[in-house]
Amino acid sequence: MYKKYLILILLFISSFYSLYIQADDEGFSSFFNSFFDKEPDVAPIKNALYLEECGACHFAYQPGLLPSRSWEKMLSQQEARNHFEEDITFDDKVVKAQIMHYLTDNAAEYSSFKRSRKIMRSLPSSASPLRISEIPYIKRKHGEMPEKLIVQLNAGSIANCEACHQNASKGIYDDDEIQIPSTGLFDYD
Ligand code: HEC
Ligand code: HEC
Repeated sequence: MYKKYLILILLFISSFYSLYIQADDEGFSSFFNSFFDKEPDVAPIKNALYLEECGACHFAYQPGLLPSRSWEKMLSQQEARNHFEEDITFDDKVVKAQIMHYLTDNAAEYSSFKRSRKIMRSLPSSASPLRISEIPYIKRKHGEMPEKLIVQLNAGSIANCEACHQNASKGIYDDDEIQIPSTGLFDYD
């Protein structure tokens, strides 16, 4: 009786496994892979306009890294005129509105992704930081990061997420995915 079930279960597993191995259909294999792959830390960017407009000078930061109040402030006329000494005001009102919508609709407080939630939990409700690197949670995570490492990796500053987090553009910031050449300068474990 018991054996019969065991054989049925084994048959079931092995047929699924062979389907998985043979699957060359994109949708099908990515359906399977979604069980095995790590979920990103923040929602990845799927907006071409945003990538073009806000990825021109630096890494395109995911909207889920800041609350909507920060994005609103950043795009306000006053702040945009002097965005870290750059003028990023938009000539086209429609483009500006689309970017604003994209950023605020996908901001940290509306995201269910792990890091976005941690970011929101660490931020006092009165704070609207313009730098991701000023969020208490992000600051704490990089607390022991010596200047030396930033220089060694040619990262420029902590704002250059991709220099250390190789998969940052996929929304992955997990410390398992950081590859820092061993130089003895910084042991981050
Ligand atoms: C003309 C160039 C330019 C464009 C275009 C631009 N930025 Fe920036 N941005 C900068 C500079 C310069 C900094 C400061 C980088 C540093 O400190 O290393 C910066 C910093 C930032 C930071 C802070 C990073 C941190 O945590 O320290 C955010 C967030 C940001 N930009 C978002 C945006 C968004 C959103 C857009 C599109 C609306 C945008 N930027 C477009 C030049 C630009
Ligand atoms: C100079 C290299 C460097 C840069 C630049 C950098 N990080 Fe990191 N980051 C690290 C290291 C190393 C850790 C692991 C720290 C630890 O676990 O002690 C880390 C940890 C993190 C974590 C927590 C990961 C975990 O598994 O706990 C997040 C989230 C994160 N970084 C986001 C960012 C974002 C967003 C940016 C850009 C605004 C950024 N980092 C820029 C090196 C960097």
